Amino acid sequence: MKVVVIQGPNLNMLGVREQNIYGPMKLEQIHTQMKEFANQNGVEVEFFQSNLEGEIVDRIQECMGEADGIIINAAAYTHTSIAIRDAISAVALPTIEVHISNIHRREEFRQTNMIAPVCSSSVVGFGPFGYHLAMTGITQIFSEIQAMQAAQNAEEEAQA
Ligand code: DQA
Repeated sequence: MKVVVIQGPNLNMLGVREQNIYGPMKLEQIHTQMKEFANQNGVEVEFFQSNLEGEIVDRIQECMGEADGIIINAAAYTHTSIAIRDAISAVALPTIEVHISNIHRREEFRQTNMIAPVCSSSVVGFGPFGYHLAMTGITQIFSEIQAMQAAQNAEEEAQA
Protein backbone atom coordinates (compact mmCIF):
# COMPACT_ATOMS: atom_id res chain seq x y z
CA MET A 1 0.00 0.00 0.00
CA LYS A 2 1.25 3.48 -0.84
CA VAL A 3 0.61 6.91 0.69
CA VAL A 4 1.54 10.22 -0.90
CA VAL A 5 2.26 13.05 1.54
CA ILE A 6 1.46 16.46 0.03
CA GLN A 7 2.74 19.64 1.68
CA GLY A 8 1.40 23.06 0.70
CA PRO A 9 2.85 26.57 0.59
CA ASN A 10 5.46 27.78 3.10
CA LEU A 11 5.81 24.36 4.73
CA ASN A 12 9.27 24.18 3.11
CA MET A 13 10.09 26.95 5.63
CA LEU A 14 9.27 24.90 8.73
CA GLY A 15 11.97 25.31 11.37
CA VAL A 16 12.47 28.90 10.18
CA ARG A 17 8.99 30.42 9.96
CA GLU A 18 7.05 31.44 13.10
CA GLN A 19 8.65 28.92 15.42
CA ASN A 20 6.32 30.02 18.22
CA ILE A 21 3.44 28.55 16.17
CA TYR A 22 5.02 25.74 14.13
CA GLY A 23 8.01 24.75 16.29
CA PRO A 24 11.67 24.21 15.40
CA MET A 25 11.36 21.01 13.36
CA LYS A 26 12.26 21.11 9.67
CA LEU A 27 10.12 19.46 6.99
CA GLU A 28 12.92 16.99 6.13
CA GLN A 29 13.03 15.82 9.76
CA ILE A 30 9.27 15.27 9.79
CA HIS A 31 9.54 13.30 6.55
CA THR A 32 12.43 11.18 7.88
CA GLN A 33 10.31 10.16 10.88
CA MET A 34 7.29 9.41 8.68
CA LYS A 35 9.43 7.27 6.37
CA GLU A 36 10.80 5.32 9.33
CA PHE A 37 7.26 4.57 10.55
CA ALA A 38 6.14 3.65 7.02
CA ASN A 39 9.09 1.25 6.56
CA GLN A 40 8.35 -0.42 9.89
CA ASN A 41 4.73 -0.95 8.82
CA GLY A 42 5.30 -2.09 5.23
CA VAL A 43 3.81 1.09 3.74
CA GLU A 44 5.38 2.82 0.74
CA VAL A 45 5.57 6.59 1.10
CA GLU A 46 6.36 9.47 -1.25
CA PHE A 47 6.68 13.17 -0.37
CA PHE A 48 5.75 16.26 -2.38
CA GLN A 49 5.90 19.94 -1.44
CA SER A 50 4.80 22.88 -3.56
CA ASN A 51 4.00 26.53 -3.10
CA LEU A 52 1.78 26.45 -6.20
CA GLU A 53 -1.90 25.56 -6.13
CA GLY A 54 -1.97 24.03 -9.64
CA GLU A 55 1.01 21.79 -8.89
CA ILE A 56 -0.79 20.49 -5.79
CA VAL A 57 -3.92 19.81 -7.88
CA ASP A 58 -1.76 17.95 -10.45
CA ARG A 59 -0.08 15.83 -7.74
CA ILE A 60 -3.44 14.89 -6.20
CA GLN A 61 -4.75 13.84 -9.64
CA GLU A 62 -1.61 11.73 -10.22
CA CYS A 63 -2.40 9.80 -7.04
CA MET A 64 -5.28 8.09 -8.85
CA GLY A 65 -4.13 4.61 -9.76
CA GLU A 66 -0.73 5.25 -8.15
CA ALA A 67 -1.50 5.58 -4.43
CA ASP A 68 -3.93 4.08 -1.92
CA GLY A 69 -4.17 7.16 0.28
CA ILE A 70 -3.12 10.78 0.76
CA ILE A 71 -1.91 12.79 3.73
CA ILE A 72 -2.18 16.50 2.98
CA ASN A 73 -1.38 19.76 4.72
CA ALA A 74 -2.73 22.25 2.19
CA ALA A 75 -1.49 25.07 4.47
CA ALA A 76 -2.98 28.46 3.48
CA TYR A 77 -4.81 26.88 0.51
CA THR A 78 -6.92 25.00 3.08
CA HIS A 79 -8.87 28.21 3.61
CA THR A 80 -9.28 29.25 -0.04
CA SER A 81 -8.87 26.44 -2.57
CA ILE A 82 -11.95 24.97 -4.18
CA ALA A 83 -9.58 23.49 -6.81
CA ILE A 84 -7.71 21.40 -4.20
CA ARG A 85 -10.98 20.38 -2.58
CA ASP A 86 -12.39 19.25 -5.95
CA ALA A 87 -9.20 17.30 -6.74
CA ILE A 88 -9.39 15.42 -3.40
CA SER A 89 -13.05 14.71 -4.06
CA ALA A 90 -12.33 13.57 -7.64
CA VAL A 91 -9.66 10.97 -6.81
CA ALA A 92 -11.84 9.54 -4.01
CA LEU A 93 -8.92 8.10 -2.01
CA PRO A 94 -8.76 7.93 1.80
CA THR A 95 -7.30 11.36 2.62
CA ILE A 96 -6.14 12.66 5.99
CA GLU A 97 -5.75 16.39 6.45
CA VAL A 98 -3.04 17.62 8.86
CA HIS A 99 -2.52 21.02 10.48
CA ILE A 100 0.44 21.57 12.75
CA SER A 101 -1.26 24.42 14.61
CA ASN A 102 -4.77 24.40 16.04
CA ILE A 103 -6.46 26.38 13.25
CA HIS A 104 -9.70 26.46 15.27
CA ARG A 105 -8.21 28.81 17.85
CA ARG A 106 -6.46 31.11 15.39
CA GLU A 107 -7.58 34.01 13.16
CA GLU A 108 -11.10 34.25 11.78
CA PHE A 109 -9.94 33.64 8.17
CA ARG A 110 -8.55 30.24 9.22
CA GLN A 111 -12.02 29.15 10.35
CA THR A 112 -13.04 28.56 6.74
CA ASN A 113 -11.88 25.10 5.70
CA MET A 114 -12.50 24.06 2.07
CA ILE A 115 -10.67 20.73 2.44
CA ALA A 116 -11.98 19.08 5.62
CA PRO A 117 -15.46 18.13 4.27
CA VAL A 118 -13.90 15.94 1.53
CA CYS A 119 -11.27 14.31 3.79
CA SER A 120 -11.65 11.08 5.78
CA SER A 121 -10.39 12.86 8.89
CA SER A 122 -8.41 15.83 10.19
CA VAL A 123 -5.50 15.97 12.63
CA VAL A 124 -5.17 19.45 14.07
CA GLY A 125 -3.02 21.15 16.69
CA PHE A 126 -0.62 18.35 17.68
CA GLY A 127 2.44 20.08 16.22
CA PRO A 128 4.65 17.96 13.92
CA PHE A 129 3.48 14.86 15.87
CA GLY A 130 0.22 15.25 13.92
CA TYR A 131 1.97 13.80 10.87
CA HIS A 132 2.81 10.68 12.87
CA LEU A 133 -0.82 10.41 13.98
CA ALA A 134 -1.91 10.73 10.34
CA MET A 135 0.56 7.99 9.29
CA THR A 136 -0.82 5.75 12.05
CA GLY A 137 -4.35 6.53 10.89
CA ILE A 138 -3.73 5.83 7.20
CA THR A 139 -1.90 2.58 8.10
CA GLN A 140 -4.98 1.49 10.06
CA ILE A 141 -7.25 2.42 7.12
CA PHE A 142 -4.98 0.37 4.78
CA SER A 143 -5.20 -2.66 7.13
CA GLU A 144 -8.98 -2.41 7.11
CA ILE A 145 -9.09 -2.15 3.28
CA GLN A 146 -6.80 -5.19 2.96
CA ALA A 147 -8.91 -7.20 5.42
CA MET A 148 -12.07 -6.31 3.47
CA GLN A 149 -10.44 -7.28 0.17
CA ALA A 150 -9.28 -10.62 1.63
CA ALA A 151 -12.78 -11.37 2.91
CA GLN A 152 -14.27 -10.47 -0.47
CA ASN A 153 -11.76 -12.70 -2.32
CA ALA A 154 -12.50 -15.59 0.03
CA GLU A 155 -16.24 -15.16 -0.58
CA GLU A 156 -15.75 -15.09 -4.38
CA GLU A 157 -13.58 -18.22 -4.22
CA ALA A 158 -16.20 -20.02 -2.13
CA GLN A 159 -18.89 -19.15 -4.69
CA ALA A 160 -16.79 -20.21 -7.72
C1 DQA B 1 -1.22 25.28 8.70
C2 DQA B 1 -2.28 26.28 9.14
C3 DQA B 1 -2.63 27.24 8.01
O1 DQA B 1 -3.63 28.14 8.41
C4 DQA B 1 -1.39 28.02 7.59
O2 DQA B 1 -1.69 28.86 6.51
C5 DQA B 1 -0.22 27.17 7.33
C6 DQA B 1 0.02 25.98 8.16
C7 DQA B 1 -0.78 24.37 9.86
O3 DQA B 1 -0.16 23.34 9.58
O4 DQA B 1 -1.02 24.67 11.02
O5 DQA B 1 0.61 27.48 6.49
O6 DQA B 1 -1.77 24.44 7.70
